[in-house]
Amino acid sequence: MSNTRRDFLRGAVSATALGCAATITAMGQQDNTEKSRSAAPTQAKATAGRGPVVIGSVNAHPAACDKAMELLRQNTHPVDAVVAGINLVEDDPKDHSVGYGGLPNEEGVVQLDSAVMDGKTGKAGAVAALERIKNPSSVAILVMRRTDHVLLVGEGALRFARAHGFEEMNLLTPEARRIWLEWKETHSDKDDWIRPEADKAAKKTSWRRVDGENFTTGTIHVAALTAGGDIGCCTSTSGLSYKLPGRVGDSPIIGAGLYCDNEVGSCGSTGRGEANLQNCSSFLVVELMRQGRAPEEACLEVLRRVAAKAEPRLLEDDGAPLFDLRFYALRKDGSYGAAGMRKEGGIAVHDGTECKVIKAPALYPTKS
Ligand code: GLY
Repeated sequence: MSNTRRDFLRGAVSATALGCAATITAMGQQDNTEKSRSAAPTQAKATAGRGPVVIGSVNAHPAACDKAMELLRQNTHPVDAVVAGINLVEDDPKDHSVGYGGLPNEEGVVQLDSAVMDGKTGKAGAVAALERIKNPSSVAILVMRRTDHVLLVGEGALRFARAHGFEEMNLLTPEARRIWLEWKETHSDKDDWIRPEADKAAKKTSWRRVDGENFTTGTIHVAALTAGGDIGCCTSTSGLSYKLPGRVGDSPIIGAGLYCDNEVGSCGSTGRGEANLQNCSSFLVVELMRQGRAPEEACLEVLRRVAAKAEPRLLEDDGAPLFDLRFYALRKDGSYGAAGMRKEGGIAVHDGTECKVIKAPALYPTKS
């Protein structure tokens, strides 16, 4: 990475820290922090009044958002509504970032992470490195409601799920196994795994640690705001593809992969979990909104901080982070916003009429 870019990022952090302090003392004033090379953020979108509103990552469109909205209309608790929506994606073998069909760890074992949070009570529940249960979000709700704990991991989480009658199954689908074997057989020429002759002519996959067809840090996040102003959210994932067995990402960690507070709003994340674990990112987005930032601007501000602290090995030659990371924020007034580190992606939004994907900016848009 060039010193120039590094210096620029450090400068941006200092400016940002000052800008943040200014925001704390003068809530609601214009944020004057230095911007990165991304386009100016779009305005936060406000719905008429408050809820019901459902937002989420793009893979929540339309099924998960539609389901959550349908349940909110029936006065279902917002945490139950978002989990019912997420269950549909956890059940879908075509989504390789979550639940059944998720990409496995380096040993070919699918280990799932999920958490829920209730903005009214501040209560949360989570499971990490859970094997053989396709709906970790449903187990996470039970951790919140039926234990005195917040997080259960590995074998303990599985035993708890068993105690509640969850069905056990092999979560590694044939397609996910094919993708994993391709990684095993091609990511190094210094081991004993060999690609079948028939596949050798196939285009070599680049195993850079960025999201692509055969590698994912993908995840699903959904948050809901009821007509009465209650907020609930959930994040669920199969985690980083080919991770070390036992690796836990941000998704089951309150404050990292999700956070919500009825007084302010919610935030959830997809992408490189380690970055959120190091920066308490979702908590920080909510706190910046508490101090007056619009949802999208709060997301961009946390991305700037993450970028400025990224290790050199995770940076492009021009200093932009190699990895993607996305935040989805919902404010208690029904406004919402999202932003990503590298990809100009979107946010799924159901405002009561239909679920749409709305464009969201990237801090360092990938040049194509
Ligand atoms: N955000 C998903 C993970 O890093 O595990």
